[in-house]
Order: sequence, then structure tokens, then C-alpha cells
Amino acid sequence: AQKSLKEAYKDYFPIGVAVSPRSVAGPEVELIKQQFSSITPENAMKMGPIHPEKNVYNWKDADAIVAFGEANGIKVRGHTLCWHNQTPKWFFTDSLGAQVSREELLARLKQHITDVMTHYKGKIYAWDVVNEAVPDTGKGIYRESKFYQIIGEDYIEKAFEYAHAVDPDAKLFYNDYNTESAVKRNKIFQLVTKLKEKNVPIHGVGLQAHWSIYEPTQAELEESIMQFASLGLAVQITELDVSVYPKEHERRQKKEGEGSTFTPEMKQKQAAHYKMIFDTFRKHKGAITGVTFWNVSDKTTWLDNFPVPGRKDYPLLFDQNFKPKKAFDGVVNF
Ligand code: G3I
Repeated sequence: AQKSLKEAYKDYFPIGVAVSPRSVAGPEVELIKQQFSSITPENAMKMGPIHPEKNVYNWKDADAIVAFGEANGIKVRGHTLCWHNQTPKWFFTDSLGAQVSREELLARLKQHITDVMTHYKGKIYAWDVVNEAVPDTGKGIYRESKFYQIIGEDYIEKAFEYAHAVDPDAKLFYNDYNTESAVKRNKIFQLVTKLKEKNVPIHGVGLQAHWSIYEPTQAELEESIMQFASLGLAVQITELDVSVYPKEHERRQKKEGEGSTFTPEMKQKQAAHYKMIFDTFRKHKGAITGVTFWNVSDKTTWLDNFPVPGRKDYPLLFDQNFKPKKAFDGVVNF
């Protein structure tokens, strides 16, 4: 019989997947139980969904996901405590609608992190504490988010300190995308180097890994793994998927590929790319402590309609009928 992902990688790292409350109660349940040893709530623990209003928490969705993990012996990764996206407006404004002060925003951030991590204490092995705080281009290393504008650069270290105080056993990650492009990678490297120098309780860097069948190259991938590992940080691949569309091309002609099908050429290229990616992960076994896919199967992926409306994507190892694709073979047979 064919090995599952989690069996094939049991001596390497847990294999995770991003889930919604619907996916842990619907037709993908068997596949999740069979293949994965870790789950990440795709949206349910983000600030907007879990903390929609001041002092109002909506635990229901995230609780359902954590309970599913506990019932099936699947570990849970937390995502995410501090992000400029999906953070509700109330977080940055007072009751009169004015922007809050640095002190007030720090107090709210501390309260949020403390409440959420306390609720799940002991149930989450790793947290994405701060997500996407670094800009893709430009000179600086800090994204011009409300957190940065109101608090200043130390909001990042504060977030890690608050998190560590709540659950000293949880592994704390800085998580970002485009970590293979030299510009962004070096910015992130500067940021995490500073944090390490200040003895901030950060344990790892999450490479989101929203890739395509055209990128990254193996050299780029290895460079980012080794660069972050050189700081003594764990590396986790946190949001892996391999789009069948080229990103460069999209920038030039947004409409291209609309409504297209999963062609034999895409299938071939994707299988080869996934094989390269996992060959590389295994090669850096000690440095990598987890690999998580962003969604279960091609039936539902966040890449459908993104960034091109109306366009379907096929970025995962299981097809729209939950059957393993060609790419799956190259990942489990080594
Ligand atoms: O739940 C509401 C629903 O009630 C409403 O009717 C509907 C109408 O728009 O929206 C639904 O919420 C959507 C949510 O996904 C759940 O499906 C949001 O609009 C939509 O913005 C949200 O997208 C998520 C996105 O993060 C938000 O930026 C994606 O599912 C999720 O996959 C994506 O994940 C991010 C990671 O957290 C961080 N890294 C990048 C990654 C991909 O963008």
C-alpha cells in the first residue's frame, strides 16, 4: 500500500495542513486523519475572527479545530497573534473613533495575546506570533502597518515577550512569505538577527512557501533555510502550496490562464518541483522542524480566484476528488 505523508516523514518532521471548521467536519476528514500529523487553523485564530470586538471572543471555530486535533492525535500550530491583515478596526481606535496611543495599543496587544494563548495553553506546540511585518520592497525592514506606526518597531519584540510569558513551552515563530527573494530574505534576516541579539524569546522562522511551479530554485530555497538556521533558529515551512501559474507572467497579463485546466505539462512540472522541494527539505532535516500545506486538496484552495478572479488553481498534492496526484508519488517515495 501507498505510504501516507505522515508515515513517510515520521523520522523527519510533522506534516501539517491548514484547516477550517468546515474541513474538519466535512468530506476531507478521512484524508486529514490519514495523511497529516499537524493542523493549523487557516483563519479561525486570527484577530478578526477570534476577537471581533473589544472584550468579545469567538472561540467556537478555533475550539472545534483544536478539539478535532485532540480527538485524533494531531498536533495544532497556532496562526497568528499579530498581523496587519484581518485585524478589526476597533483594535486601533478608541470609543470616539480616534486612534489609540502607543500605550493603549500595547496594552490591547498584550491582552489579546494573553487571552488567546491562555485559552489554548498546552494545546498549541508552535505559534506564529508576528506575521508579515517586513515589506517586500523599499529600504526599510518594517512594514508601515498600524502596529508599526502607532507603537514603533518594538511592537514585534513585545509580542514575543507577551507570548513567552503566557506559554513558555510553546515555540514562537516569526512568519513571512517571499522569503526566497534575496531582498526580502535579507530584510527578515536583519529583523530576526536584531531580535536574537536582544534576547527576545523567538525560536524559529516560518517560511510560508506560497510558491509556483516556476519558483523558487533549489539554490534560493537552500539559502533561505541555511541562513535562518545559522542563527540557531528552527525553520518551519508553514503555508506550502505550488501554484501552476507563473507569478512574473501574472504581473504582465492578469487575464492569462483564466479558466484553464490542469494540463499534462503543469502536472509534470508540478511533480518535478514538489520532488525537488521535498528532497531539499529532507536534506536539511535537522534545521526543518515542520512542513505544513496551506489547504487539503485542489477542491478548495485560497488560490482559487486569487490573484485572478474566475481562475482555478491546482496547488496541492490531492486532486479535487481527494485522490493523490502525480506530485504525491515523488514526495512519499524516496
Ligand atoms: O468568513 C467570511 C464569510 O462570512 C463572508 O461571507 C465572506 C465574504 O468575503 O468572507 C469570509 O471570510 C473570508 C475568509 O478568508 C474565510 O473564507 C475572507 O473574506 C477572506 O479574506 C479570507 O481569506 C484568507 C486570507 O488569509 C485573508 O487574508 C484565506 O482564507 C487564508 O487562506 C489566507 O491565509 C494567509 C495566511 O493567513 C497568511 N499568509 C498568506 C495566506 C494566504 O493569503
